Amino acid sequence: MRIAMIGSGYVGLVSGACFADFGHDVTCIDKDADKIAALKRCEIPIFEPDLEQLVRGGMSSGRLKFEKDLAGGVSDADAVFIAVGTPSRRGDGHADLSYVHAAAREIAAHLRDFTVIITKSTVPVGTGDEVERIVREANGNADFAVVSNPEFLREGAAIRDFQHPDRIVVGTEDERARKVLGDIYRPLYLNQAPIMYTKRRTAELIKYAANAFLATKITFINEMADLAEQVGANVQEIARGIGLDNRIGSKFLHAGAGYGGSCFPKDTRALVKTALDYGVQLRIVEATLTANDNRKRAMARKVANVLGGDIRGKTIAILGLTFKPDTDDMREAPSIPMITGLLDLGAKVKAHDPAGMEQAKKELTGIEYCDDPYACACNADALVIVTEWRQFRALDLERIKASMIAPVIVDLRNIYRPEDMWALGFKYESIGRPN
Ligand SMILES: NC(=O)c1ccc[n+]([C@@H]2O[C@H](COP(=O)([O-])OP(=O)(O)OC[C@H]3O[C@@H](n4cnc5c(N)ncnc54)[C@H](O)[C@@H]3O)[C@@H](O)[C@H]2O)c1
Repeated sequence: MRIAMIGSGYVGLVSGACFADFGHDVTCIDKDADKIAALKRCEIPIFEPDLEQLVRGGMSSGRLKFEKDLAGGVSDADAVFIAVGTPSRRGDGHADLSYVHAAAREIAAHLRDFTVIITKSTVPVGTGDEVERIVREANGNADFAVVSNPEFLREGAAIRDFQHPDRIVVGTEDERARKVLGDIYRPLYLNQAPIMYTKRRTAELIKYAANAFLATKITFINEMADLAEQVGANVQEIARGIGLDNRIGSKFLHAGAGYGGSCFPKDTRALVKTALDYGVQLRIVEATLTANDNRKRAMARKVANVLGGDIRGKTIAILGLTFKPDTDDMREAPSIPMITGLLDLGAKVKAHDPAGMEQAKKELTGIEYCDDPYACACNADALVIVTEWRQFRALDLERIKASMIAPVIVDLRNIYRPEDMWALGFKYESIGRPN
């Protein structure tokens, strides 16, 4: 199959490199000229484990190319994927579809033979209809079908997720398109990944329903953590106790500072807005959104309370800035409202993150960035774990303690055992566990 991938960000680049690895001929296209120039030199613009190796392999096999312009890649393609961003629209929280619509118009101009246009971007119900309308309006002679094929990969484990998906969802009622998608994904269902064909609108909604459900599950356990703290229970054991029930499942029951990232916040907001447009109120998702937004900033007050309430002039060291480990993505990271909250309370903030500091500098000013966890902890009144990077699990805690003004750790990811920390002489507070 000849594939054009419009948008070479997290999803486009990972999907394109994986498709090339399956044996397809892939052209990854991006309007960001610097990104394309870097990719042509095999410099990966994002932090994603094992991606460089995969891209290098694709390029040296000749099956993976990078282009700034759509023309060649699209006119020769059997399938054109749209993997551009769909951020929250400023002001109202709807998904901003301007990039998707622009990509559809550009694709239309270059279509030749029958081509399947596939939205991989997360798009609200009905977007496939609109893409179809745009293409038809721009190129009345085009022979094409528009398919929804939402992507479920997670940053940090993106390649593994793409190569071993729980399911592949394909929304189309067009037989020719169904065959093309079947050919593209054949290497995966030979590997037992179930491919589910459904209507386009259903596929579009499946993606939002999945993200909203997971966001709700996280928020649920976060609220249980708050209750556990008040009643002297342990949220980790509650998570295990309910997660062993197959109907519930153990994943996404890890209490913390609230969900963030490039998907859950914007997708839950967009889903609520779409539903309201159709006269439906999604009260559970609305409650999730509010609870999660409030929680991120409340983490600043939690830190202040551990230090007796007044943190004016105190130095707080933050370990982990990205919304989760193994990514440099800072989009809607809980660290941002939390650190802003600490600054508003008059604290000085130092921070370290293994991969996210360059991105963080664009979002967070007025804090001191440190090269390693030890420099970060030095002379701090409290150390706060915000992201559970692996390297924070095996710190030399004696060294950390000796360099701090006071031995105080607030662990928002529950990466340490309270008994161990008390034995080391720390004042240690975590989430939803006895302190
Ligand atoms: N990041 C994730 O973990 C993830 C997971 C599943 C689904 N998604 C969804 O996938 C979509 C893409 O997300 P992302 O994180 O890859 O975004 P991203 O911002 O990392 O990448 C989008 C890329 O598209 C490019 N672009 C925009 N308009 C273009 C055009 N007309 N022509 C060529 N290139 C264009 C941008 O320059 C950018 O490089 C979103 O809808 C997102 O919700 C993301």
